[in-house]
Order: sequence, then structure tokens, then C-alpha cells
Amino acid sequence: MPFTRGLNLILVARRKELLDKLADELATSHGITATALACDLANRQSLGALFDDVDATLAKHNEHLTVLVNNAGTGFWAPFADQDLAGLQRDIDLNVTALTTLSHGFINRARAHGQRSYLMNVASLAGILPTPQYATYSGTKGYVRFFTEILDYELRDSPISVTAACPGGVLTPFLDQAGQTVKKQTGIMTAPEVAKLCVDAMYAGKVVYVPGLLNKVAVYTNLLPRRLRGWLLERSMMVSVEARPDASR
Ligand SMILES: NC(=O)c1ccc[n+]([C@@H]2O[C@H](COP(=O)([O-])OP(=O)(O)OC[C@H]3O[C@@H](n4cnc5c(N)ncnc54)[C@H](OP(=O)(O)O)[C@@H]3O)[C@@H](O)[C@H]2O)c1
Repeated sequence: MPFTRGLNLILVARRKELLDKLADELATSHGITATALACDLANRQSLGALFDDVDATLAKHNEHLTVLVNNAGTGFWAPFADQDLAGLQRDIDLNVTALTTLSHGFINRARAHGQRSYLMNVASLAGILPTPQYATYSGTKGYVRFFTEILDYELRDSPISVTAACPGGVLTPFLDQAGQTVKKQTGIMTAPEVAKLCVDAMYAGKVVYVPGLLNKVAVYTNLLPRRLRGWLLERSMMVSVEARPDASR
């Protein structure tokens, strides 16, 4: 992963064992310090305590927080009314509440230390195109995009740059947890290429960034009448994925 650019890292996710392993690998391969913090970001209590651990880690290494990537996000692909409400609520807690809380903590710390800083919020192409069967997911990602665009305006005279990354389909475990099986990789990008493009866009100061030519072209379907756009988006999604028969959450 050529994305660390010499920065020391704090990695946050729920599965501590995997996170520790990744932190060790990154520290060894890049000669950096990488700290793993286990936290369920969809849980308000653990989310509220996260910055205590982050601040303690920074103080230990005498460092400031200059980059935040809000990457964790979930969604489930099925008609809205057929979905379990508790699962949808967890998506909102993670995609909206956690991202908002962490952005707030980050921006205030960056304002206090005054160094050049970068915030990347990972949205989705579904945050630009209202995507059928992803009503809540698409809605939360639309929030992320609007939120980030507004932060860009409010922070225009500050050294803090903000980016909403809006990938289309990416080959990751996300698809499986969203209840999808890949049947054809058409239009689906790989995680390393998307990550590299998005990190480059963040450092280049792009505010809304869509990786991949096909995804960039897809944005123009917003010019179509709503129902036609919905029909087209549903059909194009079905070219590459299908619902996993046993999918539930
Ligand atoms: N894959 C796609 O097709 C696609 C397309 C557009 C946008 N995106 C967006 O890209 C971002 C990354 O997705 P991905 O494809 O890399 O998904 P992924 O492979 O499922 O990875 C999600 C990561 O988030 C962590 N995570 C999930 N729930 C969490 C929670 N409650 N608290 C803390 N960490 C949590 C996971 O680790 P743990 O499970 O250990 O917590 C994992 O490291 C998401 O925001 C997603 O919406 C993905």
C-alpha cells in the first residue's frame, strides 16, 4: 500500500486481531508507527470514547492529527420496506452519526494546531445518484456528499482541505455484507486502484471526487427524468451483481 506517505497511522475498526495484524504489516513495510484501536463506530458510547484513545496515542508520540479518512460504511441492497429497521438504523449511525462526530473532532483539533490538514469522507456514487434498493444507503451517502461540500465552503479560508470520495462498485467484502454476489466484474474497480486515486484526489484538494471513467460518465444520468434514471440505475447494477439468495443481516 503506497498510501501512508510516511505518516504514522491510527487504524480504527471492530476486529482487533485483523487490525493489529495490519498495523504490524504497515509499520514493518513503511517504517512508521501504526496503532490499532478497536471501536464499534456505530455504538455511540464507544464512538464518544474514541477521541480519548486517539488523543492519548498522539500525546504518546508527540504528534498532531493532520489526516482523517472516514472510510467505514455499510448498506444493504433490497427494497426499503422489506429491510430490517434495526439494520438500517445501524447504517445511519455509522454512515452519518459516526462520520459527523469524527469530522467535528478532527476539524476542531486541526483548527487548534493550525497545520495543513486533510479530511476525506468516503461517500459513494450512490451519494450522487439516488440508487434503487439502496434507499437508506444512498440517502446516507448523499448526506456525506452535501455535508462535505458545505464544510469545504465553511473552511475555505483555513488550512483544512475536505474531500468527498464517491466510488462506484469496488471489489471488497462490502458487496457480500450488502447482500450482493458479483456475477460480472463490469464497472467494478479494485480496492487498491480506488484507494490510490482517492488519496491522490484528497491531497490535490478535490472536493467531490468520482474515481473511474465509467463512474464519471454515469453521473450524467442525473440529467434524465427521475423514473428513467431509477430504471437505468437498477438495470445497470444488475449487470454486475445479483442478490445473494441467503442474504440477511
Ligand atoms: N465496496 C463498494 O462497492 C463501495 C462503493 C462505494 C462506496 N463504498 C464505501 O467505501 C467505504 C469502505 O467500504 P469497503 O468497500 O472498503 O467496505 P468493507 O470492505 O466492508 O470494509 C469496511 C471497513 O469498515 C470497518 N467497519 C465496518 N463497520 C464498522 C463499525 N461499526 N465500526 C468500526 N469499523 C467498522 C470494517 O472493519 P470491521 O468489520 O472489523 O469493523 C472494515 O475495515 C464505505 O464507506 C462504503 O460505503 C464502497
